[in-house]
Amino acid sequence: MNRQFKLAARPIGMPKESDFSLVQAPMPAPGDGQVLAKSLYLSVDPYMRGRITGIRTYADPVNIGDVMQGGTVGQVMESKAAGFAPGDYVTGFWGWQEYATADAKTLQKLDPKLAPISTALGVLGMPGMTAYFGFLDICQPKPGETVLVSGAAGAVGSLVGQIAKIKGCRVVGIAGTDDKVEWMSKELGFDAGFNYKTTSDYSAKLKELCPNGIDCYFDNVGGAITDAVFPLMNVYGRISICGQISQYNLDKPEPGPRILSLVLVKQLKVEGFIVFRFQNKYPEGIKQMAQWLHEGKLKHREEIVEGFENTVKAFIGMLKGDNTGKMLVKIR
Ligand SMILES: NC(=O)c1ccc[n+]([C@@H]2O[C@H](COP(=O)([O-])OP(=O)(O)OC[C@H]3O[C@@H](n4cnc5c(N)ncnc54)[C@H](OP(=O)(O)O)[C@@H]3O)[C@@H](O)[C@H]2O)c1
Repeated sequence: MNRQFKLAARPIGMPKESDFSLVQAPMPAPGDGQVLAKSLYLSVDPYMRGRITGIRTYADPVNIGDVMQGGTVGQVMESKAAGFAPGDYVTGFWGWQEYATADAKTLQKLDPKLAPISTALGVLGMPGMTAYFGFLDICQPKPGETVLVSGAAGAVGSLVGQIAKIKGCRVVGIAGTDDKVEWMSKELGFDAGFNYKTTSDYSAKLKELCPNGIDCYFDNVGGAITDAVFPLMNVYGRISICGQISQYNLDKPEPGPRILSLVLVKQLKVEGFIVFRFQNKYPEGIKQMAQWLHEGKLKHREEIVEGFENTVKAFIGMLKGDNTGKMLVKIR
Protein backbone atom coordinates (compact mmCIF):
# COMPACT_ATOMS: atom_id res chain seq x y z
CA MET A 1 0.00 0.00 0.00
CA ASN A 2 0.94 3.64 -0.51
CA ARG A 3 0.58 6.26 2.24
CA GLN A 4 -0.46 9.79 1.29
CA PHE A 5 -1.22 13.06 3.06
CA LYS A 6 -4.35 14.72 1.67
CA LEU A 7 -5.74 18.16 2.41
CA ALA A 8 -8.70 17.64 4.76
CA ALA A 9 -9.69 21.24 5.58
CA ARG A 10 -8.64 24.77 4.63
CA PRO A 11 -6.60 26.06 7.58
CA ILE A 12 -7.66 29.16 9.47
CA GLY A 13 -4.57 30.89 10.84
CA MET A 14 -1.64 28.58 11.59
CA PRO A 15 -2.34 25.14 10.00
CA LYS A 16 -3.20 22.27 12.36
CA GLU A 17 -2.44 18.56 12.00
CA SER A 18 -6.19 17.93 11.57
CA ASP A 19 -6.17 20.03 8.37
CA PHE A 20 -4.50 16.99 6.72
CA SER A 21 -5.44 13.30 6.66
CA LEU A 22 -3.05 10.37 6.39
CA VAL A 23 -4.63 7.80 4.06
CA GLN A 24 -3.70 4.45 2.52
CA ALA A 25 -4.03 4.07 -1.23
CA PRO A 26 -3.29 1.18 -3.61
CA MET A 27 0.23 1.09 -5.02
CA PRO A 28 0.14 3.02 -8.34
CA ALA A 29 1.32 1.39 -11.59
CA PRO A 30 3.27 3.37 -14.18
CA GLY A 31 1.81 3.89 -17.66
CA ASP A 32 3.77 4.40 -20.87
CA GLY A 33 6.32 7.21 -20.50
CA GLN A 34 6.07 7.03 -16.70
CA VAL A 35 8.10 5.72 -13.78
CA LEU A 36 7.09 4.44 -10.35
CA ALA A 37 9.19 6.30 -7.77
CA LYS A 38 9.69 5.71 -4.07
CA SER A 39 9.99 8.95 -2.09
CA LEU A 40 13.23 9.39 -0.15
CA TYR A 41 12.94 13.09 0.80
CA LEU A 42 9.93 15.41 0.82
CA SER A 43 10.17 19.17 0.94
CA VAL A 44 8.04 21.36 3.20
CA ASP A 45 8.01 24.99 2.05
CA PRO A 46 6.30 28.27 2.95
CA TYR A 47 4.59 28.53 -0.48
CA MET A 48 2.50 25.48 0.48
CA ARG A 49 0.60 27.67 2.97
CA GLY A 50 -0.61 29.71 -0.02
CA ARG A 51 -1.60 26.62 -2.01
CA ILE A 52 -4.00 25.43 0.74
CA THR A 53 -5.93 28.69 1.13
CA GLY A 54 -8.08 27.84 -1.90
CA ILE A 55 -7.21 31.06 -3.72
CA ARG A 56 -5.42 30.96 -7.05
CA THR A 57 -2.24 33.03 -6.91
CA TYR A 58 0.48 32.19 -9.41
CA ALA A 59 -0.47 28.48 -9.23
CA ASP A 60 -3.63 26.44 -8.82
CA PRO A 61 -4.62 25.72 -5.21
CA VAL A 62 -4.66 22.24 -3.68
CA ASN A 63 -8.29 21.10 -3.41
CA ILE A 64 -9.77 19.39 -0.37
CA GLY A 65 -9.14 15.66 -0.81
CA ASP A 66 -6.11 16.18 -3.07
CA VAL A 67 -2.68 14.79 -2.24
CA MET A 68 -0.62 17.69 -0.89
CA GLN A 69 1.68 19.13 -3.57
CA GLY A 70 5.41 19.50 -3.08
CA GLY A 71 8.93 18.91 -4.33
CA THR A 72 10.32 15.39 -3.85
CA VAL A 73 13.45 13.30 -4.27
CA GLY A 74 13.15 9.59 -4.81
CA GLN A 75 14.35 6.43 -6.49
CA VAL A 76 12.89 4.77 -9.56
CA MET A 77 11.37 1.36 -8.71
CA GLU A 78 9.90 0.55 -12.12
CA SER A 79 10.23 2.34 -15.45
CA LYS A 80 8.16 2.49 -18.61
CA ALA A 81 10.06 5.55 -19.80
CA ALA A 82 13.11 5.67 -22.07
CA GLY A 83 16.22 6.91 -20.25
CA PHE A 84 15.05 5.92 -16.73
CA ALA A 85 15.95 2.63 -15.04
CA PRO A 86 15.21 1.09 -11.65
CA GLY A 87 17.65 2.49 -9.08
CA ASP A 88 17.96 5.93 -10.71
CA TYR A 89 17.64 8.88 -8.31
CA VAL A 90 15.23 11.55 -9.49
CA THR A 91 13.66 14.80 -8.34
CA GLY A 92 10.12 15.80 -9.22
CA PHE A 93 6.90 17.27 -7.85
CA TRP A 94 4.78 14.30 -6.78
CA GLY A 95 3.91 15.64 -3.34
CA TRP A 96 3.40 14.17 0.09
CA GLN A 97 3.18 10.43 -0.66
CA GLU A 98 5.50 7.47 -0.22
CA TYR A 99 5.19 6.20 -3.82
CA ALA A 100 4.01 7.90 -6.99
CA THR A 101 3.92 7.51 -10.71
CA ALA A 102 5.33 10.45 -12.62
CA ASP A 103 5.73 11.39 -16.27
CA ALA A 104 9.40 11.14 -17.19
CA LYS A 105 9.31 14.67 -18.65
CA THR A 106 8.51 16.07 -15.16
CA LEU A 107 11.61 14.46 -13.62
CA GLN A 108 15.29 15.34 -13.46
CA LYS A 109 17.86 12.62 -12.86
CA LEU A 110 20.27 13.17 -9.95
CA ASP A 111 23.88 12.02 -9.70
CA PRO A 112 24.58 11.14 -6.04
CA LYS A 113 28.33 11.35 -6.76
CA LEU A 114 28.04 15.07 -7.59
CA ALA A 115 26.09 16.13 -4.47
CA PRO A 116 23.90 14.49 -1.80
CA ILE A 117 20.50 13.88 -3.40
CA SER A 118 18.67 15.94 -0.75
CA THR A 119 20.36 19.10 -2.04
CA ALA A 120 18.03 18.95 -5.06
CA LEU A 121 15.33 20.25 -2.69
CA GLY A 122 17.57 22.88 -1.09
CA VAL A 123 20.80 24.55 -2.04
CA LEU A 124 20.87 23.04 -5.57
CA GLY A 125 17.10 23.15 -6.01
CA MET A 126 14.26 25.66 -5.90
CA PRO A 127 15.36 27.50 -2.71
CA GLY A 128 18.93 27.78 -4.00
CA MET A 129 17.77 29.19 -7.32
CA THR A 130 15.48 31.62 -5.45
CA ALA A 131 18.47 32.91 -3.50
CA TYR A 132 20.82 33.04 -6.47
CA PHE A 133 18.63 34.73 -9.08
CA GLY A 134 16.24 36.54 -6.74
CA PHE A 135 19.18 38.28 -5.12
CA LEU A 136 21.72 38.73 -7.92
CA ASP A 137 19.35 39.57 -10.79
CA ILE A 138 17.13 41.92 -8.80
CA CYS A 139 19.49 43.52 -6.25
CA GLN A 140 22.57 43.73 -8.52
CA PRO A 141 24.85 44.02 -5.44
CA LYS A 142 28.17 45.88 -5.60
CA PRO A 143 31.23 45.27 -3.39
CA GLY A 144 31.13 47.33 -0.19
CA GLU A 145 27.36 47.78 -0.21
CA THR A 146 25.22 46.93 2.83
CA VAL A 147 22.83 44.03 2.25
CA LEU A 148 20.02 43.26 4.70
CA VAL A 149 18.31 39.85 4.64
CA SER A 150 15.15 38.94 6.59
CA GLY A 151 14.29 35.29 7.23
CA ALA A 152 18.06 35.05 7.15
CA ALA A 153 18.58 31.64 8.80
CA GLY A 154 16.17 29.76 6.55
CA ALA A 155 16.71 27.84 3.31
CA VAL A 156 16.70 30.89 1.03
CA GLY A 157 17.90 33.63 3.39
CA SER A 158 20.98 31.76 4.65
CA LEU A 159 22.15 31.37 1.04
CA VAL A 160 21.38 34.99 0.06
CA GLY A 161 23.56 36.30 2.90
CA GLN A 162 26.46 34.07 1.86
CA ILE A 163 26.14 35.01 -1.82
CA ALA A 164 26.24 38.66 -0.74
CA LYS A 165 29.46 37.97 1.21
CA ILE A 166 30.96 36.24 -1.85
CA LYS A 167 30.13 39.42 -3.82
CA GLY A 168 32.04 41.55 -1.28
CA CYS A 169 29.09 43.10 0.54
CA ARG A 170 28.54 43.85 4.23
CA VAL A 171 25.70 41.57 5.34
CA VAL A 172 23.18 41.94 8.14
CA GLY A 173 20.65 39.19 8.87
CA ILE A 174 17.40 39.06 10.83
CA ALA A 175 16.12 35.77 12.33
CA GLY A 176 13.93 34.45 15.12
CA THR A 177 16.34 32.93 17.70
CA ASP A 178 19.70 33.83 19.24
CA ASP A 179 21.11 30.49 18.07
CA LYS A 180 20.19 31.31 14.47
CA VAL A 181 21.80 34.75 14.75
CA GLU A 182 24.96 33.18 16.19
CA TRP A 183 25.03 30.55 13.39
CA MET A 184 24.75 33.28 10.76
CA SER A 185 27.65 35.26 12.13
CA LYS A 186 29.96 32.47 13.36
CA GLU A 187 29.38 29.85 10.64
CA LEU A 188 28.15 31.78 7.62
CA GLY A 189 30.25 34.92 7.98
CA PHE A 190 27.45 37.50 8.27
CA ASP A 191 28.76 40.80 9.67
CA ALA A 192 25.86 41.43 12.06
CA GLY A 193 22.38 40.27 12.91
CA PHE A 194 19.57 40.38 15.44
CA ASN A 195 16.73 38.31 16.84
CA TYR A 196 13.48 40.02 15.84
CA LYS A 197 11.56 38.19 18.58
CA THR A 198 13.56 39.82 21.38
CA THR A 199 14.06 43.23 19.73
CA SER A 200 11.35 45.80 20.38
CA ASP A 201 12.57 48.71 18.23
CA TYR A 202 13.52 47.36 14.76
CA SER A 203 14.27 50.83 13.46
CA ALA A 204 16.79 51.65 16.22
CA LYS A 205 18.45 48.23 15.86
CA LEU A 206 18.74 48.57 12.09
CA LYS A 207 20.25 52.07 12.43
CA GLU A 208 22.82 50.65 14.87
CA LEU A 209 23.73 47.67 12.65
CA CYS A 210 23.58 49.52 9.31
CA PRO A 211 25.32 52.85 10.06
CA ASN A 212 25.79 53.56 6.35
CA GLY A 213 22.17 52.78 5.47
CA ILE A 214 20.92 49.81 3.43
CA ASP A 215 21.66 49.40 -0.28
CA CYS A 216 19.98 46.04 -0.90
CA TYR A 217 17.15 44.42 1.05
CA PHE A 218 16.17 40.80 0.39
CA ASP A 219 12.74 40.45 1.95
CA ASN A 220 11.49 37.03 3.01
CA VAL A 221 9.08 38.14 5.72
CA GLY A 222 7.28 41.48 5.15
CA GLY A 223 5.22 43.01 7.96
CA ALA A 224 6.67 45.22 10.67
CA ILE A 225 10.28 44.27 9.88
CA THR A 226 9.97 45.45 6.28
CA ASP A 227 8.08 48.58 7.36
CA ALA A 228 11.12 49.52 9.45
CA VAL A 229 13.54 48.97 6.54
CA PHE A 230 12.16 51.41 3.94
CA PRO A 231 13.14 54.66 5.75
CA LEU A 232 16.72 53.34 6.09
CA MET A 233 17.21 52.50 2.42
CA ASN A 234 19.87 54.47 0.60
CA VAL A 235 19.19 56.40 -2.58
CA TYR A 236 19.05 53.99 -5.58
CA GLY A 237 18.55 51.07 -3.17
CA ARG A 238 17.14 47.78 -4.46
CA ILE A 239 14.54 45.65 -2.68
CA SER A 240 13.85 42.08 -3.78
CA ILE A 241 10.43 40.94 -2.53
CA CYS A 242 10.88 37.17 -2.24
CA GLY A 243 8.38 36.24 0.48
CA GLN A 244 6.03 37.70 3.10
CA ILE A 245 5.86 34.84 5.58
CA SER A 246 4.73 37.07 8.47
CA GLN A 247 1.46 37.53 6.55
CA TYR A 248 0.73 33.96 5.39
CA ASN A 249 -1.33 32.87 8.40
CA LEU A 250 -3.31 36.10 8.80
CA ASP A 251 -7.05 36.11 8.15
CA LYS A 252 -7.01 39.75 6.98
CA PRO A 253 -4.13 41.76 5.51
CA GLU A 254 -2.42 44.03 8.05
CA PRO A 255 -2.63 47.76 7.37
CA GLY A 256 0.82 49.09 6.50
CA PRO A 257 2.48 52.48 6.30
CA ARG A 258 2.35 54.39 3.01
CA ILE A 259 5.86 53.84 1.69
CA LEU A 260 5.61 55.03 -1.90
CA SER A 261 6.87 58.54 -1.03
CA LEU A 262 10.05 56.89 0.22
CA VAL A 263 10.28 54.79 -2.95
CA LEU A 264 10.02 58.06 -4.87
CA VAL A 265 12.46 60.30 -3.02
CA LYS A 266 15.04 57.54 -2.52
CA GLN A 267 14.55 56.36 -6.11
CA LEU A 268 14.24 52.75 -4.98
CA LYS A 269 13.73 49.71 -7.14
CA VAL A 270 11.22 47.37 -5.45
CA GLU A 271 10.59 44.16 -7.37
CA GLY A 272 8.69 41.00 -6.54
CA PHE A 273 9.52 37.73 -8.28
CA ILE A 274 8.46 34.10 -8.55
CA VAL A 275 11.52 31.90 -9.00
CA PHE A 276 10.09 30.03 -12.01
CA ARG A 277 10.70 33.11 -14.15
CA PHE A 278 14.39 32.15 -14.00
CA GLN A 279 13.79 28.49 -14.89
CA ASN A 280 15.63 28.65 -18.21
CA LYS A 281 18.73 29.88 -16.33
CA TYR A 282 18.69 27.17 -13.59
CA PRO A 283 21.63 25.21 -15.12
CA GLU A 284 23.84 28.31 -14.76
CA GLY A 285 22.68 28.87 -11.15
CA ILE A 286 23.11 25.22 -10.14
CA LYS A 287 26.60 25.11 -11.67
CA GLN A 288 27.71 28.23 -9.79
CA MET A 289 26.17 27.20 -6.45
CA ALA A 290 27.72 23.69 -6.76
CA GLN A 291 31.11 25.24 -7.48
CA TRP A 292 30.88 27.55 -4.43
CA LEU A 293 29.89 24.52 -2.31
CA HIS A 294 32.88 22.50 -3.53
CA GLU A 295 35.20 25.47 -2.96
CA GLY A 296 33.90 25.82 0.61
CA LYS A 297 32.66 29.37 -0.06
CA LEU A 298 29.03 28.38 0.51
CA LYS A 299 27.64 26.35 3.42
CA HIS A 300 24.22 24.79 3.63
CA ARG A 301 22.35 23.16 6.45
CA GLU A 302 19.39 20.79 6.48
CA GLU A 303 16.89 20.29 9.29
CA ILE A 304 15.80 16.68 8.75
CA VAL A 305 12.59 15.33 10.25
CA GLU A 306 12.52 11.51 10.06
CA GLY A 307 9.42 9.57 9.01
CA PHE A 308 6.71 10.16 6.44
CA GLU A 309 4.08 10.28 9.19
CA ASN A 310 5.79 13.41 10.60
CA THR A 311 5.44 15.46 7.38
CA VAL A 312 2.65 17.70 8.66
CA LYS A 313 4.53 18.28 11.94
CA ALA A 314 7.59 19.30 9.87
CA PHE A 315 5.49 21.69 7.76
CA ILE A 316 3.92 23.39 10.79
CA GLY A 317 7.31 23.43 12.54
CA MET A 318 8.87 25.19 9.54
CA LEU A 319 6.13 27.85 9.59
CA LYS A 320 6.86 28.38 13.30
CA GLY A 321 10.64 28.63 12.81
CA ASP A 322 11.82 25.19 14.01
CA ASN A 323 14.29 25.00 11.10
CA THR A 324 17.77 26.37 10.63
CA GLY A 325 18.50 26.03 6.92
CA LYS A 326 16.27 23.83 4.76
CA MET A 327 13.48 21.80 6.39
CA LEU A 328 13.12 18.32 4.87
CA VAL A 329 11.36 15.07 5.66
CA LYS A 330 13.39 11.89 5.24
CA ILE A 331 11.35 8.78 4.48
CA ARG A 332 12.60 5.76 6.38
N1 LIG B 1 9.44 34.22 -4.64
C1 LIG B 1 9.74 32.94 -4.78
O1 LIG B 1 9.76 32.37 -5.86
C2 LIG B 1 10.05 32.15 -3.53
C3 LIG B 1 10.64 30.88 -3.59
C4 LIG B 1 10.97 30.22 -2.38
C5 LIG B 1 10.67 30.83 -1.18
N2 LIG B 1 10.06 32.04 -1.17
C6 LIG B 1 9.76 32.73 0.09
O2 LIG B 1 10.99 32.93 0.75
C7 LIG B 1 10.77 32.92 2.16
C8 LIG B 1 11.72 31.90 2.79
O3 LIG B 1 11.41 30.61 2.28
P1 LIG B 1 12.27 29.35 2.73
O4 LIG B 1 11.86 28.21 1.91
O5 LIG B 1 13.68 29.76 2.80
O6 LIG B 1 11.72 29.12 4.21
P2 LIG B 1 12.60 29.11 5.54
O7 LIG B 1 13.13 30.49 5.74
O8 LIG B 1 13.54 28.00 5.51
O9 LIG B 1 11.50 28.78 6.64
C9 LIG B 1 10.54 29.69 7.03
C10 LIG B 1 11.08 30.61 8.15
O10 LIG B 1 10.27 31.77 8.25
C11 LIG B 1 10.47 32.35 9.52
N3 LIG B 1 9.22 32.95 9.98
C12 LIG B 1 8.06 32.34 10.28
N4 LIG B 1 7.13 33.24 10.68
C13 LIG B 1 7.75 34.45 10.65
C14 LIG B 1 7.31 35.78 10.97
N5 LIG B 1 6.08 36.04 11.40
N6 LIG B 1 8.21 36.79 10.83
C15 LIG B 1 9.46 36.55 10.38
N7 LIG B 1 9.93 35.31 10.06
C16 LIG B 1 9.07 34.28 10.21
C17 LIG B 1 10.93 31.22 10.45
O11 LIG B 1 12.24 31.54 10.93
P3 LIG B 1 12.47 32.52 12.20
O12 LIG B 1 12.94 31.65 13.31
O13 LIG B 1 13.53 33.45 11.69
O14 LIG B 1 11.17 33.20 12.51
C18 LIG B 1 11.00 29.99 9.54
O15 LIG B 1 12.09 29.17 9.81
C19 LIG B 1 9.30 32.61 2.37
O16 LIG B 1 8.61 33.82 2.55
C20 LIG B 1 8.89 31.98 1.07
O17 LIG B 1 7.51 32.14 0.79
C21 LIG B 1 9.75 32.70 -2.31
